[in-house]
Amino acid sequence: MSTMPAMRVYVRPPRPDDERMYSEAVVRSADHLTPWNPVEPDGLPDLLRRQGPGLRTFMVINSEDEGLVGKVNVANIVRARFRSASLGYDSYLPYAGTGRMSEGMRLVVDRCFAPGPEGLGLHRLEINVQPENHRSLAMAKRLGFRHEGFSPRMLFINSAWRDHERFALTAEEWPTPLEGRQAQHG
Ligand SMILES: CC(C)(COP(=O)(O)OP(=O)(O)OC[C@H]1O[C@@H](n2cnc3c(N)ncnc32)[C@H](O)[C@@H]1OP(=O)(O)O)[C@@H](O)C(=O)NCCC(=O)NCCS
Repeated sequence: MSTMPAMRVYVRPPRPDDERMYSEAVVRSADHLTPWNPVEPDGLPDLLRRQGPGLRTFMVINSEDEGLVGKVNVANIVRARFRSASLGYDSYLPYAGTGRMSEGMRLVVDRCFAPGPEGLGLHRLEINVQPENHRSLAMAKRLGFRHEGFSPRMLFINSAWRDHERFALTAEEWPTPLEGRQAQHG
């Protein structure tokens, strides 16, 4: 029987009392985030308000000290015949570059593909990355996302429409079931 390596992180939805932890993590990580994503230390209340059928956010939490490893937005959730969403993500210091964010992303992908009510019941996930963002390109590839194409002027970031490389993954390509990863954290 194969044994699953112990997870260093778990994921859960954001809560109002995360505000301070979130602000501090974003401020601490500003230099690391600035080139690629908006830096909004006060953005949690708005993010909480926007949670709904089209957007679900997950916080990646370090199990050992309950610190905030990162945040993953499952955005542009479309149901019907598409059942697709886009993943947006940030990791925070001091956990960035320790492999924890990759673990958290795997847990989020598990949740996305798992059937409801535990999971989101999605079939396809997209990741869009600026061509120069090597750490994020590495993340998409590490997770097994397929390169689908190039989307010129796709997203408005840092005052300009930025080109993106588009990656995608469908449920058929994701072998790991939800149960194996995160039994106790719900
Ligand atoms: C993109 C981003 C989320 C990647 O997160 P990260 O913190 O690098 O994620 P991880 O820590 O899981 O990265 C794995 C790295 O840690 C290394 N690592 C160190 N210890 C490790 C361990 N025990 N297990 C696995 N990997 C480990 C890996 O080798 C890998 O480095 P490499 O890519 O040089 O090979 C992060 O760089 C970020 O927030 N960037 C700014 C915002 C951004 O670009 N968001 C995405 C927009 S599309």
